[in-house]
Amino acid sequence: MTSIIMVCLGNICRSPLAHGILESKLPSDQFYIDSAGTANYHVGDSPDHRSIAVAKQNGIDISNQRGRQFNVSDFDTFDYIFTMDDSNYQNIIALARNHNDTTKVKRILEVDESIQLTHVPDPYYGDISDFENVFQILDNACDVLSKRLLHNSL
Ligand code: 4NP
Repeated sequence: MTSIIMVCLGNICRSPLAHGILESKLPSDQFYIDSAGTANYHVGDSPDHRSIAVAKQNGIDISNQRGRQFNVSDFDTFDYIFTMDDSNYQNIIALARNHNDTTKVKRILEVDESIQLTHVPDPYYGDISDFENVFQILDNACDVLSKRLLHNSL
């Protein structure tokens, strides 16, 4: 089993989408996907209703996810840790206990060289079009990511 965790700030907008999208592209008997926030603002909360709506429009149900905060023990549980933006990346790197932990942490858009963006924009203070934009960015990145994971070429 390969384990992957998607990380953003609140774990209600971006990482629940990344979690649901990647899960939809990989066989569940080989890949375990989860998500978390660097902050504890939304522990136990459902994803933002706009993330739920955009996922649903695209045939993905993320409504059963619940927010949780990234924990240092996640470095032991997960093989890959994908962060949405530079702030998330720096916050997770700051928690790493050793070199092995650090090597697991990547910015999600690093996996796709064709993407010019360096970070997934935070849509929390935006409107539904910002969530649709985030969905497209993550869907493209997860296409590349899932193929690489399936071919062991990450
Ligand atoms: P996320 O978006 O990191 O993509 O889940 C946010 C959600 C909540 C907050 C900020 C960003 N907040 O400040 O509560």
